[in-house]
Amino acid sequence: MNKPQDSLMPRPVRDSQSEITEVVLPNDTNPLGSLLGGRLMHWIDVAGALAAHRHARSYVVTASIDHMDFWTPVHVGDLVILRSSVNRVFNTSMEVGVKVWVENYLSDESRHVSSAYLTFVAIDAAGRHLKVAPVVPETEAEKRRYEDAGRRREIRKAERDRRESNA
Ligand SMILES: CC(C)(COP(=O)(O)OP(=O)(O)OC[C@H]1O[C@@H](n2cnc3c(N)ncnc32)[C@H](O)[C@@H]1OP(=O)(O)O)[C@@H](O)C(=O)NCCC(=O)NCCS
Repeated sequence: MNKPQDSLMPRPVRDSQSEITEVVLPNDTNPLGSLLGGRLMHWIDVAGALAAHRHARSYVVTASIDHMDFWTPVHVGDLVILRSSVNRVFNTSMEVGVKVWVENYLSDESRHVSSAYLTFVAIDAAGRHLKVAPVVPETEAEKRRYEDAGRRREIRKAERDRRESNA
């Protein structure tokens, strides 16, 4: 868990904010031309990892992805915008939120497709867990997400314990 001291200085949420834009191509879709859920989950994982890397300044692995809903279909030719940032840091892990939008440049419409919370764990090149610098929420929305992330961690842990006891 050793890391240079300056990499453990608190950093604002805005330093981790990341955005990816993807255009939906035929290879990303089902036979009806709608985006595959699995492809979107892959992009969400990548967008989440970007924010986690930017904040932790280290390698990270995905420990978990919370429940996800897909609220609106996305079609071939649409633009998918994924925005991510670190909601809260715990010790070696951090929760990242990813919000997904679809834009149709012909109709100039934008719709919310999905939101996801991912937990990443910081590791070094040998796979050892690393302590992560605290994140500082500044805006009202960031403070709300920070508080909510604490509650979600408790729920995740309780669910994990329940699954392990049933295994
Ligand atoms: C995730 C992983 C690093 C956890 O390691 P571990 O030694 O089992 O976990 P520990 O109990 O030491 O916990 C380490 C941290 O991860 C968190 N964590 C562990 N499992 C978790 C889970 N399923 N969901 C959320 N957080 C989790 C712990 O809360 C802890 O956080 P903290 O340090 O901030 O308090 C390990 O299981 C792993 O490497 N998994 C594979 C990751 C991977 O390859 N992902 C890509 C997809 S296959």
